[in-house]
Amino acid sequence: METNAVPAAAPVLVARGLFRFRSVDGQQVPIVRDVSFELRAGEFATIMGPSGSGKSTLLHLLAGLDRPSAGDVLLAGENLGAGDEEHRAALRRRHVGFVFQFFHLLPDLTVEENVTGPLRIVGQNPNRHRGRIQNLLELLGVAKVANRLPAALSGGEMQRVSIARALATQPPLVLADEPTGNLSSKAGEEVVALLRSVCARLGAAILLVTHNPRDAAAGDRVMFLHDGALRQAAELTGGPFGVADVFRRLEELGI
Ligand SMILES: Nc1ncnc2c1ncn2[C@@H]1O[C@H](COP(=O)(O)OP(=O)(O)OP(=O)(O)O)[C@@H](O)[C@H]1O
Ligand SMILES: [Mg+2]
Repeated sequence: METNAVPAAAPVLVARGLFRFRSVDGQQVPIVRDVSFELRAGEFATIMGPSGSGKSTLLHLLAGLDRPSAGDVLLAGENLGAGDEEHRAALRRRHVGFVFQFFHLLPDLTVEENVTGPLRIVGQNPNRHRGRIQNLLELLGVAKVANRLPAALSGGEMQRVSIARALATQPPLVLADEPTGNLSSKAGEEVVALLRSVCARLGAAILLVTHNPRDAAAGDRVMFLHDGALRQAAELTGGPFGVADVFRRLEELGI
């Protein structure tokens, strides 16, 4: 399986000087503050930050689900801010798969229909991708439940289905927002390990945000977000890490 082509040299994601202000009690408060970083094709990066540090707000900006107050997001070299809503939606559909904490599977559709939904949205006939989708369901260990409705799945299975859905259109980038937040620790570990191995196999880059040090430790690179700002000097590179490495860095940062 191949992902949508991205020139080898172009980062799959660039965030440049991102700010997002929100009105809180009549005051404009920065929720995301001057965030800049790049993600290379195939990289597995995590952002660790406490509850309320701005992780979801940042991911929504990166996916084009929300617009920054200042700064730019480039997906595979294309500027998300360059056009209207429709332009942003088109770039998102082409370049990004999103994995949510609460799965967001459609309850009346089977597992297979949920997974092929993004293909239909981009106007592709799922039957033409049958072998590839079957392979994806198998890689994620959910081929056996392909005809079930989401209500008949465990939490871990639901999240593995939503990873398959995120990968259905072969995006070069997967953004995951606390993907283990609603899972037992065993199911959560499985989900992160699968995300890592399946994306590596398909060549997709991952950016996973979490407040869970164990999940963060799975990254090749761990960034730290505090009060909406990245603590750039604290970034860990050369992972995956032991959870103790992440705790040590958190202690050094006092967060
Ligand atoms: N629509 C909104 N209006 C005003 N403030 C908001 C809004 N959405 C989020 N916030 C605030 O922005 C801050 C960051 O929120 P965000 O959801 O990005 O945090 P998070 O790091 O994802 O937290 P969690 O780990 O709990 O999911 C919080 O203080 C939150 O209260
Ligand atoms: Mg959040």
